[in-house]
Amino acid sequence: MRSVLLAAVLTSPAAAQPVLEARAKGVAVASGTAAQLSARVATSRVVIENPFLDGRAKAYEAFPAAPLLDALYGRGWREVDGGEVTFKASDGYEAHVAAAKLAAGGAWLAFRDHDRAPRWEPVGKRAVDPGPFFLVWEGGKTPEKGYAWPWQVVALDTARFEDVYPGLAPRGVKGDSPEARGYKLFRLDCVKCHGLDQEGGKVGPDLNSPQSVTEYRPKDQLKAFIRKPSSFRFGQMPDHESLSDKDLEDLWRYLKLKAGQRQKSW
Ligand code: HEC
Repeated sequence: MRSVLLAAVLTSPAAAQPVLEARAKGVAVASGTAAQLSARVATSRVVIENPFLDGRAKAYEAFPAAPLLDALYGRGWREVDGGEVTFKASDGYEAHVAAAKLAAGGAWLAFRDHDRAPRWEPVGKRAVDPGPFFLVWEGGKTPEKGYAWPWQVVALDTARFEDVYPGLAPRGVKGDSPEARGYKLFRLDCVKCHGLDQEGGKVGPDLNSPQSVTEYRPKDQLKAFIRKPSSFRFGQMPDHESLSDKDLEDLWRYLKLKAGQRQKSW
């Protein structure tokens, strides 16, 4: 009897469904498949102008992000000052989204492609499969406007950025200094893929250890690379052509400062 039951569990389709894990400071606090979560939060068919499909309208079945986060965490995630929700992808990519943006509405966590289910229409230049969970936004909230669209999401985390990456903050500088502005830009545009001293995203190389990029790359070349890596080599780093000369100087100043604040010698 027992083995029959076990076999039934192992072969049931529900067992194969991907799970979304909700963590708080790295500790799992809740989890569920899309079907399990939809018993707690009503889902909707949403039609989204998808910047990763050249702006074409696309229908997804999705959870409204804020009510889903309420169900997973209680309302506390909304109230942490400077709070962020981290969306973790299966390949190690991390997107940090301000809780205030998510709470303001218009964010949806899609779990099914209405035209292609059970498959997904591939998105982006590299034609990736965005499932099992894909954060999408209504109302023209595109990545260019500072809204992240992480795909292949498997886990969420609600710790504050400084709790997760205590070593990244610039020490000994004022809040309005070039280094502090560079840190803000780094958080917004870079940390999802890059770390310093192994703190941060892992898609691209560590920019501080064992050597800082400011130590082995000439300043002007480094700035030109950050703005337009595609003009140097074919790679995975996106261009950042909207960064101004001042932004690039601020980023360089931040990276230079952190070269002198390395957390350990490697
Ligand atoms: C989507 C992921 C992604 C983002 C976002 C990203 N990078 Fe990169 N970056 C990469 C990858 C992957 C590489 C290595 C491949 C390559 O060099 O083409 C790289 C390479 C680099 C290099 C060259 C390192 C070396 O020594 O060759 C620098 C410098 C760099 N990134 C800085 C930045 C900065 C600063 C930002 C933010 C403005 C940023 N990157 C945003 C993925 C990313």
